[in-house]
Formats: sequence, C-alpha cells, structure tokens
Amino acid sequence: MVPTFRVRGGVGGAYVPPADKSITHRALMLASVTEGSSRVRHPLATGDCVSTRRCLESLGARFTDESDGVVVDGVGLRGFREPDRALDAENSGTTTRLLSGLLAGQKLFAVLGGDASLLRRPMGRVVEPLRKMGARIEGRAAGRFAPLCFLPGNGGLEPLDWKIPVPSAQVKSSLMLAALRASAPSLLRGEIASRDHTERMLQSLGVALETGPSVLKVHPVERLPAFDALVPGDISSAAFFVAASLISGKPLVLRACGINPTRMGFIEAVRRMGAAVTVHQDGSSLGEPYGSLTVTPGALRGTEVGPDDVPELIDEIPLLAVMGLFSRGVTRVSGAAELRVKESDRLEMIARMVEGLGGRVEVTDDGFTMEGPQELSASAFVDPRDDHRIAMAAAVASAGMPGGVRVTGFDCSRVSYPDFVRDFTALGGEVA
Ligand code: S3P
Repeated sequence: MVPTFRVRGGVGGAYVPPADKSITHRALMLASVTEGSSRVRHPLATGDCVSTRRCLESLGARFTDESDGVVVDGVGLRGFREPDRALDAENSGTTTRLLSGLLAGQKLFAVLGGDASLLRRPMGRVVEPLRKMGARIEGRAAGRFAPLCFLPGNGGLEPLDWKIPVPSAQVKSSLMLAALRASAPSLLRGEIASRDHTERMLQSLGVALETGPSVLKVHPVERLPAFDALVPGDISSAAFFVAASLISGKPLVLRACGINPTRMGFIEAVRRMGAAVTVHQDGSSLGEPYGSLTVTPGALRGTEVGPDDVPELIDEIPLLAVMGLFSRGVTRVSGAAELRVKESDRLEMIARMVEGLGGRVEVTDDGFTMEGPQELSASAFVDPRDDHRIAMAAAVASAGMPGGVRVTGFDCSRVSYPDFVRDFTALGGEVA
C-alpha cells in the first residue's frame, strides 16, 4: 500500500526526537575499541546503526542489550578478530568510512561492502590517505569504490599529514580514528569544518587533540577508557517536524535533542526564514550538548544558503527545498555538490520530489533555486527511490498541501527514522 500523508489541524506539540545517528555510530565504534565495558544509553537501534553494530560484532566486540541501551565489551584499539565473512555496511556511508579508519593496518583480512547505493559512493577519499598511512587496502576501480578489502598489517600506522579536499565529517572521522594507532601525531588540514562529534568524544575520552581553524592535530594513544554515554535526539530527524510545524503554523517543543553547534545550520536557516526558535541546554554527555528547543512559526520567507553554511545542514537540504515551496521570495542553495554523492544523487532527487509535488525548482551543479509560494498539486505523488531523507521530506510537504502527499516505498525511512509515521501521527498528521 502506498501511504498518503495528510495534515488538517497542523503538526506540532511536544516531541522527543529519535536518537542521533551520527553519535550512535561513533559511540558504538569507540565502545568497541575501548578496553572494558562501556554503556551506550538510548542509541539509535535501527537501520544504519544496526549495520555498524553487526560489523563490530563480527570483529569481536560483544553487545548485550539492556532496557535503556546496550553494554559493549570492547576489544581494544588493536584487538579486532578477523571476521569469518564479508562485513556488510548495507546503506551506511558512515559505517563504511569510519570503520575503514578502524580497520586500516590491523593484523587481519577483512572485506567491507554494502548495498547498491553504497557501492556507488566515493571511497577513494578515505582509501588514499589510509594507504598513505601504510594500510594495504584494495577495492573496486583501484580502491575508489567498495567492496573494500583490508589486507593484514602490523596493527599500527604511519602518521599522516593530509589536506582533506571535501568538507566531510565521515572522511575526517575515519582519518582521526586511524590516527589513534599511528606512531606519531597526525595533521589533518583543509576542509575540516564539518560536524565535530568525533573530536568531542575523543577529547572527552582523554585523547589529545589540537584544533585550529584549518588544522587538526591528533595524538595517538595506547588505549581508550570505557565510558557511559547518553545519545541525544537527532536534530536532523527533528528537522522534519520543525519544518512541518513551520509550514502548518503550529508551535513545536522538542526535548532531549542534540544541540551541537556544528549541527545547528538548519535552525539558523529557519530563523532567517521567519521562525522564532529558542534553545536551552539541559546537559551534555561524552562532550555532546543536548537540550530543548521551542519553535514558534512566523510568515515564511526565502533564504540563501552558501558553501560555508552547507556542512552544518547538509542532511537538511531536501527540507529547505520543501520549505522554499511555501516561502515568499527566492530560496537558493549553492556549494552543495556533495549532495550528488549521498545515498542518492540528492540534487537530482530534490528535482524529482518537487516535480512530484507539482512545484518548480531549478537545480544547478551544486544546489538549486526556487521561488515561492507555489501552487502545488492536489494529487501529489513522490517516489524517493530508496532515499530515506527524500521520502520524509516529501511527507513533510503535506503540512501545506490539503490534498495530501502519496509517497511510495516509504519504508526506506527506517534507515534513520523507523518511527516517523508514529511521530507524524502523534503530532497531528494523518497517514492512510
Ligand atoms: C555524517 C556526515 C555527513 C552526513 C551523514 C552523516 C557523519 O556526511 O551527510 O548523514 O555521521 O559523519 P559527510 O560528512 O560525508 O558529508
């Protein structure tokens, strides 16, 4: 059955978003390479993060579920066991790239692959620097694509001095994780302004990091201590309901949500678009601040998002396109060519989504331009082609479309947000 998303009285109220995907990946990986038992409370226990867990289990880390999370018995930084079979990252680029940093140069043989979307995503951006550190890695197309094959090393790596060419937290984190086992400090330069979860977590585990505006120095360590972490809510998942609240004009209050400054780009963009958002920090765990946000809708106007803004809202760009349809004036995004190598060519998929909604957008090489408000279709139909963020962004458009929106293959949303339909309904939407 193809679900139809519909909104009659607005989307809003009180809301606790699902656990942060980026933080869960990192917490599970770091727990697996500590020495001792770590506790990860409120992890995202679905889709991409399950892929990470399964890979780590195949490498010898032991996971025990508890009522409020999971206990992970780590094997140490050099203690992975050779996996019996190929590791499957499924749809998850974060799993593939970060795990590559942990696997590089280990005393084992491992193959790491994934689904059709993953096999199309660029991996040379981690393989090349990891090889420079002495790791022997092979892969399809000379190592540019997965499956990747990690040949046995001596457990350690050479230090790295590398200019990161794209603002990717996955690349930066992969190299930081590898640098922990290097024989001397490593220097990462270039595009290092992206989400900083790995930096925060490593620092809170006692790793010496020196951070400057365009350089990051990572000191190696012998071991990492076990920890107890609470994973906050995912602001990128919450963003769907922030957008629905603003489009439908009903206030929303979010609790227990991650408020890491490097993830707040969407909140800044919606403020420019006319929303009032207040943020209150309630605490922090493993260096990650969390708190509550109060979202008060206002008349929406278009906004500009440029290359410097993109890393802080990279996953929310499909939502900006949806909001642009309901905003007065021009909404323009540039400097977002990275979207072409996400789970899909997301710029192409934004064009298809807007077309399915009955709207108009001009997609460029690295972004898009649109003018609103637009008259949209009374019988909108979107095929997200297995891209979870496109599926949910299309559903959010229904907050301003009385005829509702049909989204085929909506099940792909489980990759990051399995309970989306439950939350959409609880906040005032209808799904039939
Ligand atoms: C992520 C980083 C981003 C983001 C992805 C998760 C991470 O990718 O799009 O959803 O957890 O590091 P890039 O850093 O490759 O842009």
